[in-house]
Amino acid sequence: MAKSSADNRNLRQARKAKKDEFYTQLADIEKELKHYKDQFRGKIVYCNCDDPYESNFFKYFASNFNALGLKKLITTSYSGSPVAGKQLPLFEIEGLKEIKPKDAEAHRIEINEVPDFNKDGAIDLKDIEQLLKHTANVCAPLKGNGDFRSEECIELLKQADIVCTNPPFSLFREYVAQLVEYDKKFLIIGNLNAITYKEIFPLIKENKMWLGVSIHSGDREFRVPDDYPLNAAGYRVDKEGNKYIRVKGVRWFTNLDYKERHEELTLYKKYTPEEYPKYDNYNAIEVSKTSDIPMDYDGVMGVPISFLDKHNPDQFEIVGSDYEIKQGLLPELVNNTWEGKIDRGYLNGKRLYSRLFIRNKKVKK
Ligand SMILES: C[S@@+](CC[C@H](N)C(=O)[O-])C[C@H]1O[C@@H](n2cnc3c(N)ncnc32)[C@H](O)[C@@H]1O
Repeated sequence: MAKSSADNRNLRQARKAKKDEFYTQLADIEKELKHYKDQFRGKIVYCNCDDPYESNFFKYFASNFNALGLKKLITTSYSGSPVAGKQLPLFEIEGLKEIKPKDAEAHRIEINEVPDFNKDGAIDLKDIEQLLKHTANVCAPLKGNGDFRSEECIELLKQADIVCTNPPFSLFREYVAQLVEYDKKFLIIGNLNAITYKEIFPLIKENKMWLGVSIHSGDREFRVPDDYPLNAAGYRVDKEGNKYIRVKGVRWFTNLDYKERHEELTLYKKYTPEEYPKYDNYNAIEVSKTSDIPMDYDGVMGVPISFLDKHNPDQFEIVGSDYEIKQGLLPELVNNTWEGKIDRGYLNGKRLYSRLFIRNKKVKK
């Protein structure tokens, strides 16, 4: 291979790897996790993309180990990370520093109980430090690089009841496929765009995965490594020189149920053919805003993918997506008189953004 194309490839790979180095803020984890507290009692939690030096997931579950009533917490780090070993750290855990395997080596931390070492009636990071210092084998090197797909990480996954992390976005499809293969409960961070992936959408449609409670709009701030190339808009450097970027479209993805997703969306509009035109190419009507879904229409409606932020599976059925129509999986939704493309919905010849197709299960005439 010519040197320049190899260089380019290396650069691309490095960029891609760097893009995976986003660290979740503790406040974002707390805001979501508080809705599932009862579901963690007696459970084994596995954070499989989480170097405890960097991960607020580790910090959250370790500090709340007793409050949540966890049975076990397992965390594994990944030595393929471009910042492995020269890490931030995001927070100082004394005990960890002393027992952490050297440099970039991937390692596993396993916590089975957190005693109140300080006898102050509360379990906090000070107790975690004591635990790490005084308990043998809490932290051990992994044989391999800590890839979530490696045999030893899969063995840990098999033990787990719930997996909770922010996985590398570049591997989101594979990451979710593995969780499904091992039939795990999960609560993970991803991007709303993932909904349109052919591997992800069927899970949403079949009600095997849905969006979490706490993030439905706007962007979220993530810490990034110190050498992260910050030329994009929406980044910040704090007083200590730590770098952050704001990311749009962030969502939690989960198969843990919560009560808010069973609350009915109040519909106040009535169907008229003028306000809700049929697509040129689909046998469905266009509803360009979720809040405008008509209460009395019993046919198929096209809605923006952000509909999923409001989706209540008792109220609506998800019929399909543009992609499925394009793949020929929903022939009944294709208007056979249309001679143009069927890659997306068209309205008066204008190509629209990606749509989901839904049906109201509780039509009110
Ligand atoms: C988006 S970051 C999130 C880190 C941490 N979970 C958090 O939320 O702060 C994804 C992490 O996964 C790691 N990673 C990348 N590829 C991986 C793989 N194949 N197996 C396990 N971890 C991986 C990255 O190095 C990175 O630290």
